[in-house]
Amino acid sequence: MYQITVCLTSEQFPYYQTENCNAVAIDVLRATTSICTAFLNGAKEVIPISTVDELKTYIGTEYLIAAERDGVKLDFADIGNSPQYFTRERVEGRTIAYSTTNGTHTINLAAQCHSAAIGAFINISALCRWLEAGDRDVFLLCAGWKGRFSLEDSVFAGAVAQKLMDTGKFTTICDSALAAMDLWSLAKPDLKGYIQKAAQNERLRKIHAADAIPYCHELDLTDVVPVFRDGVLRGMST
Ligand code: MLT
Repeated sequence: MYQITVCLTSEQFPYYQTENCNAVAIDVLRATTSICTAFLNGAKEVIPISTVDELKTYIGTEYLIAAERDGVKLDFADIGNSPQYFTRERVEGRTIAYSTTNGTHTINLAAQCHSAAIGAFINISALCRWLEAGDRDVFLLCAGWKGRFSLEDSVFAGAVAQKLMDTGKFTTICDSALAAMDLWSLAKPDLKGYIQKAAQNERLRKIHAADAIPYCHELDLTDVVPVFRDGVLRGMST
């Protein structure tokens, strides 16, 4: 049996032993949903960049720059971070230099594990197939918000943990995984309704970006799993 571990905020990452795990970076609102959307619409690669200073080195290159801080598009970026900006017209065949408040840092932490993929509700079944085929312990890393717990990321981690448990190949002795699965059982009957109370919804409403919220809670819009290798994310069909 393989173990499932859930880390509820990226700041807690140093407390876990993860070198041998297949990891998933989770930032449902909106980074990991936007990345999955980019690949759904034919993006070639996404480069996850943690800092604004590093991102600035991509200005004037052939890369499409997508970036936000505190939800708001950076002035030098081509696009901000809502999934609806990652249209086929904009992203097909392109490499995207990408930086967000919490999500890209989380991806770069997950990249320290045996392997790392991107998870969102819109690719949840494909992601679970990738994890099941991976034949390893699984580490689900929630981005959270600036060190704090995020409801939507934890509910998603619970949904993934539950799907893996249902295969009979996985088990858990991790309290965060157990709590996340309990949250998922509360949210599952009406996910979009349940998630209304999440703090990130309020932040997105304040910056007039709330139109992304229902889309970020749709299930299985894509079979592509973005996987990190050699510094970039590439889409893998499962
Ligand atoms: C993040 O990386 O923190 C989020 O994706 C923020 C956002 O989308 O506004």
